[in-house]
Amino acid sequence: MQIQAGRERPGASRQALVTGLLADALASVTPAGRAPELLDCGGGSGTYAVPLAVAGASVTVVDISADALATLVRRAGEDGVSDRVRPVQGDAESLGDLVPADFFDLVLAHGVLEAVDDVPGAFAGLAAAVRPGGLLSVLVGNPAAGVVARALAGEPAAALAELRALDTPGTRVGPDAVERLCSAAGLAVEARHGIGVFSDLVPGAALDAPGARAALVQLDAAAADRSPFAEIAGRVHLLARRPG
Ligand SMILES: C[S@@+](CC[C@H](N)C(=O)[O-])C[C@H]1O[C@@H](n2cnc3c(N)ncnc32)[C@H](O)[C@@H]1O
Repeated sequence: MQIQAGRERPGASRQALVTGLLADALASVTPAGRAPELLDCGGGSGTYAVPLAVAGASVTVVDISADALATLVRRAGEDGVSDRVRPVQGDAESLGDLVPADFFDLVLAHGVLEAVDDVPGAFAGLAAAVRPGGLLSVLVGNPAAGVVARALAGEPAAALAELRALDTPGTRVGPDAVERLCSAAGLAVEARHGIGVFSDLVPGAALDAPGARAALVQLDAAAADRSPFAEIAGRVHLLARRPG
């Protein structure tokens, strides 16, 4: 299944990297003879949902924001996939009341766990929505990247405070917390990639040389699963499978 990344804009290269990872994930969960069923929780205006629908998936988008869902509906119409995108307004913390359990081939939770109050409760709903053998795709901010960003901004005292906060459990949800939640829910983490390792650090003005932006995309992709680079990425993408 071919997925087109979104339109050219800041962050498009990061989205392209995640989209590539999703294409592989989708290929591994697409059943023979029917379109894959996807749930995009906190899917907002359709950054991922619309390209996935264009690629042939049937996508349910749950989001708390009516405005974001209105944009989603408009974009789905523009791209001719209104029939494959189902908007549902609601709270990720009540996901079990909004969508069926054990149903979706692939469930996305990109940038939403940071926004909920009850992270374990929301995560339990996400895990329950995945069908046996299906995948959960989580994109989450990386607290370690905050330390690097503060230091590079000339704020070493703030960087030190953020560094020390990394050891305080429950302060900010990040990739390690997501791995623990997966384990507690019985999901097996199959992949973990740093997203935007270098593009989050390099100012746009430093990329005026011909070919520099394209090279940065390649550099980000090459560093996404390599230590020690992946550990300082601004965001981390995890794929976890529910046992079949
Ligand atoms: C950072 S955006 C991410 C959007 C999209 N998933 C992406 O990766 O481009 C977070 C989205 O989560 C939604 N959101 C925030 N709190 C939520 C909640 N409690 N339940 C459902 N959606 C929520 C916001 O409206 C917003 O669309």
